[in-house]
Amino acid sequence: MSPTDRNVPRPIPPSIIQVLPAEPLLLMGAGPVPVPAEVARAGGLVINHLGDTMNMVVDGVKEMARYVFQTRDDKIYGISGPASAAMEMAMGSLLWPGRKVLVLKLGTFSNRFAQMAGGVGAQVDLLEVPDDEPVRAEQVEQKLAQGKYDVVTTVQGETSCGVWTRELPQIAGLAHQAGALMVVDAVCTLSTMPLRKDDWGIDVVFTGSQKGLSSLPGVALIAFSDAAWEALQQHPGPKPHWCLDPVRAQHFWGEHTYHYTAPVTGLLALYEALRLICEETLEQRFARHRHSALALQAGVEGMGLKLAIAAEHRLNSVLAIQIPQGADGARARRYMAERFKVQISESYGRNIVRIGQMGEQCRSPNLFRTLHALGVAFSREGAKLDLSRGMAELEAHLIAHAAGVL
Ligand SMILES: Cc1ncc(COP(=O)(O)O)c(C=O)c1O
Repeated sequence: MSPTDRNVPRPIPPSIIQVLPAEPLLLMGAGPVPVPAEVARAGGLVINHLGDTMNMVVDGVKEMARYVFQTRDDKIYGISGPASAAMEMAMGSLLWPGRKVLVLKLGTFSNRFAQMAGGVGAQVDLLEVPDDEPVRAEQVEQKLAQGKYDVVTTVQGETSCGVWTRELPQIAGLAHQAGALMVVDAVCTLSTMPLRKDDWGIDVVFTGSQKGLSSLPGVALIAFSDAAWEALQQHPGPKPHWCLDPVRAQHFWGEHTYHYTAPVTGLLALYEALRLICEETLEQRFARHRHSALALQAGVEGMGLKLAIAAEHRLNSVLAIQIPQGADGARARRYMAERFKVQISESYGRNIVRIGQMGEQCRSPNLFRTLHALGVAFSREGAKLDLSRGMAELEAHLIAHAAGVL
């Protein structure tokens, strides 16, 4: 064998323009979501990761994140990574062998807390509810009466099934009364519906950039209360993480010194995404999300499809729709993408498809395009649907409730 034969052959890949479809898909799934032009522009820039300009970006992100989380916390960090990295930072810093966590499990993402907590050697107890049900405060109260926990975790919205933890404020109150820290995943809900970190007594809350905030994927945000900060100082070591150690993150986010090279483009994009939220105001943004989601629900039901989750604990930011009997959900989704360039999500083993209502997804042209594509795709699968009635219901809701909002 000659030396040349031993070389790994040089690939000749297509350019990224050739890889991407000629017409981009409209991202109407469970995230990532479309981004505003300002965010896309900011995400195309690179600046140095340290220095005066970056310091202004960092301070701006923290100040705007305080508004979005509704907190006065000092310890707020952007993390280079997905939302799961923020979850990992919380679990890896607050838990260690000998510590005990109660995980409220209603689906895939709430269960991820248990996997991570187990991974750092904590004792994990699950409070598990049946499919499509929320965790209720009463159940948490009973569980907390039976044992002592250092941490309680939950999701505000469970993306995998479309269930909303409506009783989150009460659950956080109960955790506090029981002397536990409350950790909340607001990944698919932040800035789409009210969340009041300080008023509700949440100790740690985190989100990703690619959902409600409508920014580029790859940067997560997390906030720690003073009590959580105090608890994580007690970590006996060795610490399981280096990048995801909040004490080290404080070097960059608190003192403007080096921790690791920050995700510069992602932070510039996030700055713009947060600025647009401040400009819109949370109140207006919640109203836009609510009416967009309700209009879409009216349209889906109006054409004869069934929503998977009961109205009282239905998540507005991720809508779960039952796949009609005899229809092939994967084929319907593929048809929507190929024919109408609209992409929605599959489920995690459930008989549903999911449509996102986060950030830029909540714009009326996107609603009409998605609902129409959904109706055509499932009609083609044999479902008996009244597409015109569905479109009319969508329009009627928007006219009645969403003037000046959407
Ligand atoms: C509620 C929830 N938590 C956590 C995650 C994990 O986010 P990521 O994929 O960015 O790690 C997701 C992603 O869909 C989510 O919806």
